[in-house]
Amino acid sequence: MQTVNSLGMLRTALAQLRVGNATIALVPTMGALHEGHLTLVRRARAEADHVVASIFVNPKQFGPNEDLDAYPRQLAADAAMLEAEGVALLWAPTVDAMYPDGFATSVSVAGVSEGLCGAARPGHFDGVATVVLKLFNQVAPDMAFFGEKDFQQLAVIRVMARDLDLTRPHVDAIIGVPTVREADGLAMSSRNRYLSPEQRAAAAALPRAMRAAAAAITGGTGVTEALGALEAELLAAGFASIDYATLADAASLAPLEALGPAPARLLVAARIGGTRLIDNLAVSG
Ligand code: PAF
Repeated sequence: MQTVNSLGMLRTALAQLRVGNATIALVPTMGALHEGHLTLVRRARAEADHVVASIFVNPKQFGPNEDLDAYPRQLAADAAMLEAEGVALLWAPTVDAMYPDGFATSVSVAGVSEGLCGAARPGHFDGVATVVLKLFNQVAPDMAFFGEKDFQQLAVIRVMARDLDLTRPHVDAIIGVPTVREADGLAMSSRNRYLSPEQRAAAAALPRAMRAAAAAITGGTGVTEALGALEAELLAAGFASIDYATLADAASLAPLEALGPAPARLLVAARIGGTRLIDNLAVSG
């Protein structure tokens, strides 16, 4: 595996991979890799001839009071994991390579970016959309893989790709990969490492309460009642607060008061200690 950190080196390395009809899959990450990321890499390897992974802790998606400096950085360990998974090329740009002096552009996807995590983290999805569009333009992959764990992020990227006509040569297909979970159901996340052992044990209430709420809604319980029970269960388990617990249209993320014909998603963000956990589940009628 080759690791490059300037655009010139990236272009040279990509030209070497792109021989004949070889296809390239992109797996964008911010590093601190866990099994969830490696699952994306394995899916990407199964679908494309070559996998390009990126590691970039994107300052534009962190708010002023968020943990940019504290965000875990472990490039050597991450590179070893990616190499072991058969990644061909690691794109690990410096902040200056990604955002040179005078960088002035921001991509904003209205609507789908605004509620849920967008309400609690103003500007976050503009930062995500901006860097992902840059990654698509830099790598020009045939396909790109994102985890469903960050369901709103995936929805934002899909709307951006549709609105900006991001078919080849930018990216041909955006593929969402189901969330990878720990044995007790907790969704894998780089942020789980911030949980104390007690908080980690209590955090299993999140997927448990979500599964119960999804089953209740499917079984005919009213959405408000099911979400109320979910919130009560999380608070009883030791969560400090719930940012949101919503049933939403799976594509637009508009809130739903009842299941309809279109796919629906249950999305929750809740805080335990100082850590904000998010999770989501499909809910079918
Ligand atoms: O999901 C992430 O790790 C990041 O938001 C992404 C998509 C790599 C953009 O920085």
